[in-house]
Amino acid sequence: MFRSIIVIAVCIRLVLGKINPIEVRGKHFYDSVSNAPFFIRGIDYQPGGSSDFTEDKDPLSDTSVCARDIPLFQNLGINAVRVYSLNPDLNHDKCMTMLASAGIYLILDVNSPLTNQHLNRYEPWTTYNPVYLEHVFKVVEQFSSYNNTLGFIAGNEIINDKRSAERTPPYIKQLVIDIKGYIKAHSSRVIPVGYSAADDLKYRVSLSKYLECEDQGNHDSSVDFYGVNSYQWCGDQDFQSSGYDKLVDAYKDYSKPVFFSEFGCNEVTPRKFGEIPTLYSDKMYHTFSGGLVYEFTQETNNYGLVSVDEETSDVYLLEDFDALKNQYTKTPHPTVADLRIIQEKVTSRAAKNNPNCYNKYTNLDITAKVVPKMAAEFIRKGVKCERGKYVDLDKADLVCNSKYFDAKGNPLSKIPKFSIVNEINSVKLTEPESKNSNSASTLMLSTTNLIIGCSMALGLILDVVSVICF
Ligand SMILES: *[C@@H]1O[C@H](CO)[C@@H](O)[C@H](O)[C@H]1NC(C)=O
Repeated sequence: MFRSIIVIAVCIRLVLGKINPIEVRGKHFYDSVSNAPFFIRGIDYQPGGSSDFTEDKDPLSDTSVCARDIPLFQNLGINAVRVYSLNPDLNHDKCMTMLASAGIYLILDVNSPLTNQHLNRYEPWTTYNPVYLEHVFKVVEQFSSYNNTLGFIAGNEIINDKRSAERTPPYIKQLVIDIKGYIKAHSSRVIPVGYSAADDLKYRVSLSKYLECEDQGNHDSSVDFYGVNSYQWCGDQDFQSSGYDKLVDAYKDYSKPVFFSEFGCNEVTPRKFGEIPTLYSDKMYHTFSGGLVYEFTQETNNYGLVSVDEETSDVYLLEDFDALKNQYTKTPHPTVADLRIIQEKVTSRAAKNNPNCYNKYTNLDITAKVVPKMAAEFIRKGVKCERGKYVDLDKADLVCNSKYFDAKGNPLSKIPKFSIVNEINSVKLTEPESKNSNSASTLMLSTTNLIIGCSMALGLILDVVSVICF
């Protein structure tokens, strides 16, 4: 007690980080500045589900929804979210700033269920057109400028049966080439581009090989990562009984990061997420870079961690939320020391070229000819779309007017709070400044290593969990 008073009385020092871009080196993701390996611990996030997607709103356009959900992301202990569909004509600066301040990365699909915003899996030639490409490039144009955009997903489960496997593979490859070409021409950094595959033994491995290979010396024809949607660990299973051992076997020689772009079987409920400790253990982390749990909000298919009351926008944390949180809490991130031997191998492998393409891939037809140079004009000139940027936020932006309840409907005793872990523009936890306000009472978190007077310390601790005391 006495000691802690002294600690607080001496001073409080805030150490805020930067949100550094993540990059691919060999088989793993790395923080491009700190060089720490990055393992995805995330969730799939599309409140309302994909069928609810409209032009007027999307998961990152409504600041009040972000202010409601991001504290829950932090409470859950995640570092990434995947969003399936966005409208690049809307503004996403505030939500992206909040995510970045909270230390959370975005993995973003470039498609949407709306007409002209995705490839038709059976007649891709009808939908691979300038209107479609313009949509894709607008998404890329807008989100490339945020440091916390981790990667773009060119397609989700486009191949999911025999017919689609006969028609679409070259279109997916061409889309990867186009997106990488656009990023090269218009972005100041390299942003990983990948694909998210359906859980189908017939296609998932051969497709991974096809998307990994380099077509006629075109380096951009190889994906930077491969996402696998997997629902095979259900209830009380283990590494072998779930078949995860076979998954690791199938991808252990893959030259790029592989991760679960969706996982979390719901055949046995409530879910216990017993696969989490295995996924981040040495059984798997040499091959899998973590994964994204499907999915944050409860929809009709019953995979939710939380359920949202449509009318009030209040949130109920379901049993699955607590179960997942407990698993994350007891599961450490693999460290650079864990990966050391592997990393050396990776460095040498990264220097090598991608494997060359074969003429044939099991269960896929790769002979379709895609109309060439459809994207050339866009890549040369760029598309018109407002570039994303981090913006100033104040407490009004971060206030959450929704209420949080537990699964039984009791108000949460401890309300999840937004905590700033990265220094992004001027993000403040105070009220917006009015003309006659006393500026000394305004706490700006815009300076690293901010030293704060002791009297403010106690109040601050309540708000900022990531305070480091010396
Ligand atoms: C974005 O990343 C770069 C390093 O590549 C860094 O210099 C910059 O400060 C970062 N921006 C923010 C807002 O963290």
